[in-house]
Amino acid sequence: MKDKNFFITTPIYYPSGEPHIGHAYSSIIADVFARFKRNDGWNVHFLTGTDEHGLKIQKAAEKANLDPLTYCNNISKVFRSLSKKLNLSNDDFIRTTEKRHKVSVNDLWQRLLKSGDIYLSKYKGWYSISDEAYYNEDEIIEKDGKKVSAFSGSLVDWVEEESFFFKLSSWEKKLLEFYEKNKKFILPLSRRNEVINFVKNGLKDLSVSRTSFTWGIKVPNSNNHVIYVWLDALTNYLSALNYPNINDKLYKNFWPASLHVIGKDILRFHAIYWPAFLLAAKIEPPKRIFGHGWILSGDEKMSKSKGNILNPIEIVNNYGIDEIRYYLMKEVSHGSDGNISLNSLENCINSDLANNYGNLCQRVFAFIKNNCSNSIKKNTNISQSDKKIIKQTFDLTKNLRNLIENQDLNNYIKSVINISFLTNKYINDEEPWKLKKDNIKKMNNILHLALEQIAKISILLNPIIPLATDKVLEALNIKSELRNNSFLDGKKIIPDKINIHPLNILFKKIN
Ligand code: MSP
Repeated sequence: MKDKNFFITTPIYYPSGEPHIGHAYSSIIADVFARFKRNDGWNVHFLTGTDEHGLKIQKAAEKANLDPLTYCNNISKVFRSLSKKLNLSNDDFIRTTEKRHKVSVNDLWQRLLKSGDIYLSKYKGWYSISDEAYYNEDEIIEKDGKKVSAFSGSLVDWVEEESFFFKLSSWEKKLLEFYEKNKKFILPLSRRNEVINFVKNGLKDLSVSRTSFTWGIKVPNSNNHVIYVWLDALTNYLSALNYPNINDKLYKNFWPASLHVIGKDILRFHAIYWPAFLLAAKIEPPKRIFGHGWILSGDEKMSKSKGNILNPIEIVNNYGIDEIRYYLMKEVSHGSDGNISLNSLENCINSDLANNYGNLCQRVFAFIKNNCSNSIKKNTNISQSDKKIIKQTFDLTKNLRNLIENQDLNNYIKSVINISFLTNKYINDEEPWKLKKDNIKKMNNILHLALEQIAKISILLNPIIPLATDKVLEALNIKSELRNNSFLDGKKIIPDKINIHPLNILFKKIN
């Protein structure tokens, strides 16, 4: 069933230096969607990788005194191990220096050539190596006596060289029609408006090859041109599905991509150039581009050149991977930019993970261990307060799929953590410990319902904090194939009689 396939990607990373928390952020967002979709019964293909060509990488290799490929081999490994460290569930890791990718880029180039969308001319204009982007004159400002991009603040150089061009200008109208027809092609909507305004202001043809350096994929049948790194890089989304073999199972199942998760700095490439290339090549464009904001450090985008980087590996080592995943997903507003700090990370761990969800699990499991020999049996009488918490939970869960559909993770997490809060309150109000002597049946009911609530919350939080929730679901004796979202359609998760295992502490409070 094609509809139940979900292809999700992160941007492929420039291996031009150490990974930072901004990279981790993009990846974790994509991972959360991938995991949610799997739990929701979808056949998911989740791709990440490294973007290894272009002048930026060539220069980084020169600086490290290595040939570009050796340099990329080394740093690509760092990103691969970062994906493990972040507990990403990616199905593939693509490198643009791989053969499968080169084959794919070659084919796309030939198609664009054949369709008449590529011609040879001369480029004269500004180029930023750090962004690997061309800028118009009106996008350049002067800062401290130097020319920089007004958009990114990166230094630009004047470039004059022979170049192949893609006829982007002729796709202006068709792109606007495409955005109109596919209202949610770009989310959040503020980014969609930004893109539409940019296109309406007029598109110039795009230089898609360079002659002043060599580190890239050669333009077919041309000695001195290498393909512009963004045309090369964007094609990774096709190469990973074995394009141009369009009969390949991966391609058949997963193209068009369901969701490209990207940061807002690379929106233009994904929301304008990418669909234009694909439309020109008569390949269906992806279904959704989600452009998240930046993680800021003291109001500036965190980046190597600004020297304000938080190292994700250090943070994971100090606080734990679930903790950092939860914090980034809950506290950084996904549409806009967000400041992060170790202080707010610690507050978030304490309030949501240790005191709320962690405490809920701990107190219920400990009580059942100490008073019920780890075994609970539900009986039929159900109280008004049981009904109330069931209804509140239903109300909070009914919109969750829709929130994920619209990449609204902040509100998704708020709803789920609210269920945990309400369940803690339910236990406080019901005081099962007072029923030990003379109303064991009611006490069992309360604890059973508490376990069912814990199971629901754990499954819903599983995409965000997979390690901790797996421990809880394991302790609840729920088989991995049953840890899915089918309870959202009314299915029960735990049996009427349930034996549980003891649960160790999940999140330590930070003092
Ligand atoms: N190589 C390109 C992507 C090519 S995709 C066909 C690239 N790489 S990158 O390594 O510079 O950035 C990768 C991702 O990290 C981008 O989505 C970018 O927005 C994100 N982030 C990098 N710094 C960031 C922050 N400070 N905050 C949030 N995300 C940012 O771009």
